[in-house]
Amino acid sequence: MVLIAEELSPATVDALGPDFEIRHCDGADRTELLTAIADVDAILIRSATRIDAEALAAAKKLKVVARAGVGLDNVDVSAATKAGVMVVNAPTSNIVTAAELACGLLISVARNIAPANSALKAGEWKRNKYTGVELAEKTLGVVGLGRIGVLVAQRMSAFGMKIVAYDPYIQAARAAQMGVKLLSLDELLEVADFITVHLPKTPETIGLIGDEALHKVKPTVRIVNAARGGIIDEAALLSALKEGRVAGAGLDVYAKEPCTDSPLFTFDNVVATPHLGASTDEAQEKAGISVARSVRLALAGELVPDA
Ligand code: MLT
Repeated sequence: MVLIAEELSPATVDALGPDFEIRHCDGADRTELLTAIADVDAILIRSATRIDAEALAAAKKLKVVARAGVGLDNVDVSAATKAGVMVVNAPTSNIVTAAELACGLLISVARNIAPANSALKAGEWKRNKYTGVELAEKTLGVVGLGRIGVLVAQRMSAFGMKIVAYDPYIQAARAAQMGVKLLSLDELLEVADFITVHLPKTPETIGLIGDEALHKVKPTVRIVNAARGGIIDEAALLSALKEGRVAGAGLDVYAKEPCTDSPLFTFDNVVATPHLGASTDEAQEKAGISVARSVRLALAGELVPDA
């Protein structure tokens, strides 16, 4: 029995094949999840389902947790390993899609596309109010030059942006080959006109862009987070926006999701989307097929290759 706990692409079920009975549940509903997981061999999730020690304890037959996406922050991997449950993900399935959304937020926040759209649809033709800034010749600070950060850097350099990055795990020479200058986080905060975050959520990255960091940035900086909520501290960002220490933000992720009511949403210069980073037809199809294959292999006792 395979439990699909979130909305996944139809290709996922096709890729699982005819050999499994499939059950659906709403993984964000804890009571429903804990009941539905009890007798399944595998569970397929996205980011709304928390697989923690409690869920693992309730899952008496579970062999595989399959995360149709990159991040594993909603899965307690060490508890799963202790319980003998394999955890698989689809680490490259949505990197282009996530990078494209970050680029979209950067452009939108530079040019006030979202508030101008809302104003015009409400009958207001306000050309001066929504004057923006150019991207060309500006410095983009990429925080985290991993798979997604690199794709954002490549795409935004096509707009004529100068790219600097902070990533303690990357060699300066490797970054230089990509035309990216590596800086310390403090240096990046000081020089960047735009900042985009591409880090996993870990104890080290939560609050990395917090009050102290947001006192080091240029007041004209525009900040994008399409990685994970909480890496940019929301209270610190709110104060920085209120005090004019940050000129705008593009947010796709939130410390607590779903998030439908945030004081950040009251700012015209905050563009907000509901965790859409991985949400394209292409990425969902790739992620679904990839994890469905891994589940099939794992349940057949075969080796699951790194995706
Ligand atoms: C990811 O980590 O790949 C995304 O957050 C996936 C998702 O949107 O569920």
